[in-house]
Amino acid sequence: MAVVTYLDNATTSWPKPDVVLQTLGTFLEQVSGVPLRTGNRLATETWEAMERVRERLATFFGNPDPRRVLFTASGTDALNLAIKGLLGPGDHVVTTAIEHDAVRRPLRTLELFGVTTTPVGVGTDGLVDPGDVQRALRPNTRLVILGHASNVTGVLQPVGEIASRAHVQGTLVLVDAAQTAGAVSFTLDDLGADLLALSGHKWLLGPPGTGVLVLGPRVDPSELAPLREGATACDIPDVTPFWSLPERYEAGTPNAVGISALGAALEWLIQEQVAALSVRLRRLTERLVAGLETIPGVQILSPVDLPQRVAVVSCLVSGWRPVDLANVLEKAYGIVVGAGLHGASEACRTLGAYPHGTIRLSPGWCTSEEEIDRVILALAELARKPTRTD
Ligand SMILES: Cc1ncc(COP(=O)(O)O)c(C=O)c1O
Repeated sequence: MAVVTYLDNATTSWPKPDVVLQTLGTFLEQVSGVPLRTGNRLATETWEAMERVRERLATFFGNPDPRRVLFTASGTDALNLAIKGLLGPGDHVVTTAIEHDAVRRPLRTLELFGVTTTPVGVGTDGLVDPGDVQRALRPNTRLVILGHASNVTGVLQPVGEIASRAHVQGTLVLVDAAQTAGAVSFTLDDLGADLLALSGHKWLLGPPGTGVLVLGPRVDPSELAPLREGATACDIPDVTPFWSLPERYEAGTPNAVGISALGAALEWLIQEQVAALSVRLRRLTERLVAGLETIPGVQILSPVDLPQRVAVVSCLVSGWRPVDLANVLEKAYGIVVGAGLHGASEACRTLGAYPHGTIRLSPGWCTSEEEIDRVILALAELARKPTRTD
């Protein structure tokens, strides 16, 4: 059965606005050079297209210097650059117990090389207590890392409050905004973020293969090592070290076609207004949660207090393994949802949903109320037919 209802936007947004598809085609057909500032027409136009997107992203996130908007291959890539580029032996990090593996795994690797980490827990409301973060800070805490919203529960964290406490002692703050950029309106300053890692293909509605790391003014690029080295878009003297932004971090042929389509998605979001989309997503989520609450055997794992959350809802259905349930939903009903650990095994563990994880429902920009109702009906039907007893 073809996909009818797609509720897996937390994994990746689908469908994309038409303008994104059009831009991909037009760019490949008409531009698509390898950007070297002194190059041929295609190269120059490619570079200029990337620069326009860089500038739009800078404005969108509150006017940081566009040269501090770095293109990466994904949210994971942006987080790896921030974490591995900044931290070294002797550094301490405060993070949370519910971070995505794109944060946890680079940190675990760095622990082998003398970086220490303190993960703070979350309360039953899914929130990190800013006081806990403050108490975990040490004189050598170089970085506080936390997700703006959990990709399992959808809970929005008090990032601004946490950042101001970290800044008192000069600690930088890295915010993983994979689940909020494009879904909620905010600027770098609102969050107090010194480094903001973004995924282009989720709520920003861009294509896969796009991500962004935004550096705030407190970050000294001479202290952020690049993960990749090679040819760059402009001629950088062949000496080490060099600090030229953004080229220092963008060696190699960039995904200019993807970046260009990300720019088109951004224009679309600006035109539609993120604040308005965010209200729509909240209404859909409200309807979804209210429907789930009526189904016997469904346990909602996300706190139900809606103002503090994005459109990501996790639940368990009694008698069903999440992956099996997702398969039946897709095959029998044409409904696509997320299932399993969602790349966040520790977050699932804190919710008591390990090792099988959760069913994750995430409506998107073109989900209708009727689709939400269809999902509720399907889940209600399946909840009456459990497939296992353990
Ligand atoms: C909270 C969070 N951080 C980071 C990532 C990684 O983003 P990407 O898929 O762009 O690598 C994800 C993706 O699921 C996520 O949900």
